Amino acid sequence: MTRDVTLLVNGVAHRVEAPPFASLADTLRERLHLTGTKVGCEAGDCGACTVLLDGEQVCACLVPTGQAEGRAVTTIEGADPSGLIDRLREAFLAHGAAQCGICTPAMILAAADGLRRNPQADRRAVEDAVGGVLCRCTGYVKIVDAIMDVARGADAVLPVPEPGAAVGTRMARIDGRAKVEGRDRFGADHQPEDALWLRLVRSPHAAARFTIGDLGPVLARHPGLTRILTARDIPGANSFGVFPHIKDQPVLADGLVRMRGDPVAALVGTRAAVEGFPDADLPLIYEVLPALSGLEAALAPGAPPIHAGVPDNVLTRGRLTRGDVAAGHAAGAATASGAFETAFVEHAYVEPEAGFARRVGDRIEVTACTQAPVMDQEDVARVLGLPLAAVRIVPTACGGGFGGKLDVSLQPILAVAAWLTRRPVRMIFTRTESMAATTKRHPARIRARLSADGQGRFTAFELDGDFNTGAYASWGPTVANRVPVHAPGPYRVPHVRNRTRAVYTNDTPAGAFRGFGVPQATIAAETLIDDLAGMLGIDRWTIRRRNALEAGDTTASGQVLHASAGLPECLDALRDDFFRMAAEAEAFNAGSPRIRRGVGLACMWYGCGNTSMSNPSRMRIVLGPDGTLTFLNGAVDIGQGSSTVLLQIAADALGLGPDRFRSVIGDTDLTCDAGKTSASRQTFVSGNAARLAGEDLRRRILSLANAGPQARLTLEGARLTIADGPASRTIDLSSLPPDETGAVFSGEGWYDPPTTALDADGQGIPYATYGFAAQVAAVEVDTVLATVRVTRIVAAHDVGRAVNPTLVEGQIHGGIAQGLGLALMEEFIPGRTENLHDYLIPTAGDVPEIDVRIIEDPDPEGPYGAKGVGEPALVATAPAILSGIRHATGARLTRVPVLPHRLHAALHGTEAAE
Ligand code: FES
Repeated sequence: MTRDVTLLVNGVAHRVEAPPFASLADTLRERLHLTGTKVGCEAGDCGACTVLLDGEQVCACLVPTGQAEGRAVTTIEGADPSGLIDRLREAFLAHGAAQCGICTPAMILAAADGLRRNPQADRRAVEDAVGGVLCRCTGYVKIVDAIMDVARGADAVLPVPEPGAAVGTRMARIDGRAKVEGRDRFGADHQPEDALWLRLVRSPHAAARFTIGDLGPVLARHPGLTRILTARDIPGANSFGVFPHIKDQPVLADGLVRMRGDPVAALVGTRAAVEGFPDADLPLIYEVLPALSGLEAALAPGAPPIHAGVPDNVLTRGRLTRGDVAAGHAAGAATASGAFETAFVEHAYVEPEAGFARRVGDRIEVTACTQAPVMDQEDVARVLGLPLAAVRIVPTACGGGFGGKLDVSLQPILAVAAWLTRRPVRMIFTRTESMAATTKRHPARIRARLSADGQGRFTAFELDGDFNTGAYASWGPTVANRVPVHAPGPYRVPHVRNRTRAVYTNDTPAGAFRGFGVPQATIAAETLIDDLAGMLGIDRWTIRRRNALEAGDTTASGQVLHASAGLPECLDALRDDFFRMAAEAEAFNAGSPRIRRGVGLACMWYGCGNTSMSNPSRMRIVLGPDGTLTFLNGAVDIGQGSSTVLLQIAADALGLGPDRFRSVIGDTDLTCDAGKTSASRQTFVSGNAARLAGEDLRRRILSLANAGPQARLTLEGARLTIADGPASRTIDLSSLPPDETGAVFSGEGWYDPPTTALDADGQGIPYATYGFAAQVAAVEVDTVLATVRVTRIVAAHDVGRAVNPTLVEGQIHGGIAQGLGLALMEEFIPGRTENLHDYLIPTAGDVPEIDVRIIEDPDPEGPYGAKGVGEPALVATAPAILSGIRHATGARLTRVPVLPHRLHAALHGTEAAE
């Protein structure tokens, strides 16, 4: 039932026909098409839908449309007579406070509310003002910095790089203005007319056989339904997956479900019909089977296989052996060992999966949020039984990914539905659906040993790690292979033996999440280093510095690091802070038995790119006869800023300012394959491709102009001027013959990082370069309540070269916030924490002061020396926090997250009741 409601939105009266109990967010988005108001949870948990109602911030998903009648609604699209929202927009842009940008409209409006109430707001008051809005990308630091600037009346400064000097500048991200104005279009913001909607019916059981009866009567009872799709309707192969040889996940389960949330049918029809359909109306009969939940159950002798052909449920094994680990331990003066456990961790990107598909003749187009358009293209083609060229993937803005949008989610089923109905079909995952059915960080069970000689020099390291990959393979093999390489940490260790297994269970699939298992392994190694420091009477900084890898050293996989191994510089940059902060904490503790302070330290390294695999990227730049310069960039920007960073690199290589370019991002019809946005590879791998494309285009221009390599380019309209010393030549681009693509000049760059395959012992060159970091964490522990507050983090990161320091800092802030969640807060439990009020992520009030020290040890292989920073940002944080808790209290924590009941048990020597 609908009724007419009059809304005063951004000063304009709108008469809309809407159900009075429809949420205001829904009415704004779907009826007024004001999609700057985002929806992340529909439960008031994430705050992404924040608007101003009569000037006060509210969650528009909780306000019935009827309640807003006659009241003033301000959305991000609104004009702002006071200028406050405009000043906030500029400050957000200048500070890089919008990464993916899905939270940005809400943050700006919440900040406007806060500053109107309290124009002199201090940092704490600003954190309170935006405390109801979650951001998963930024760690809130730059958001609060931006708001504080507005509170202080500081002018926003937006540097515009000179031609040829973009690399190293803090230029604003190229998609930033669209984000701060609410114009950036995410998956759910695309609203094709005449679209059908799709909803998946999902299994409530983790393991079951099922049958579906006659659907004809169901369709007759529900005329709003166009189709009910089942496994029988998949035109091609009913399976997808990351690896060509392990396509083990069905688009629609075919008589067997292996996890809670497996889709068994797809409802396609009007929105009201699919949303209002009672699942009990399906003739669906389950025969529930015993579910293997957790590693122990799946590895138990006699456990039934979850997938045919994998009798022991071990999907894959990883291994690395170097030297003689037994002899190495025997040569040590001390040996530390331990068992460690980590939980499922949810990506909690604020944007749930969303998009639409449409059939265009004999082709299908899928417009959706993704981290990997070409992988999506391959899986959609496979599922439809079409050639690759018949599938077009158009990535939308991506409201956070962190690895979770590498796997396809709704793309294949949307494509099937649109293909069969010949109508556009939309789908938006609910928050619960997104959390229940998509990948997580692998829970790990790790045993490790580390030995050192009397001077603290490491002599041997070994690790056995099992990783719960859930019901489907996803990135399990990647985790199993990446961990053995990284597990000893960024240290010289002559004797190493690491073994890993990725294990199928009936749990939610675990996949890629910022670090591919390395954060879990780093918790083990860094804890053992603290153990050895204590045993040998060496301080925690010195033992790390003494063993730190540096240029010329050989890694556990036998790779010689020829350059850009900046861990010593990172540790040196933190040295004074670490010792001063530790001494201050100890002095405080002398008079404080209940509240204890501590300071922890941890290091990390991280290989940029895929492990020992070809993972090339290709970039193109084209110049049209009218002077339009287009950067065809296939790398999806998930908020980290690759669109801007790659443009900075390409612009400098060409010799024109980045403002002269327009960018086309990720569309598989228009851009080349740049590989997926993962493994901290885009700055390094696609950055090299962008550099080569710029250089190629420059070479062609200079060749035509017969100019030397130092020539300066200027582009004004269709006039391209090449000044070479006193000589100058202007080319009228419109006079040149265009090629078949319409370009008069084009440049292309292709780069594949130089790696080698690993042998049976894990020896080889798995990565062309590594990021390094050290982090110090200061914590305060309430020993009675068993709670931990992180009060400060100092983070030194060797990024080779900071192409855009603002974006580098933003990555580090965001990674640290996620590392804090990993250490202290976040544990996904299938069936129990499938929303953002039971699954808690850090809010603005949880993130401490973060002091970033950027170390630039240029890598000759990197574009202008640059390396990746996306995953390195997170890896050291959790072990640094654990180290801090131990310094504060003596409690050696081996299971994360350190929830209060676990810390209480550790402090009081009891068993934690799980
Ligand atoms: Fe805040 Fe991405 S920028 S959620």
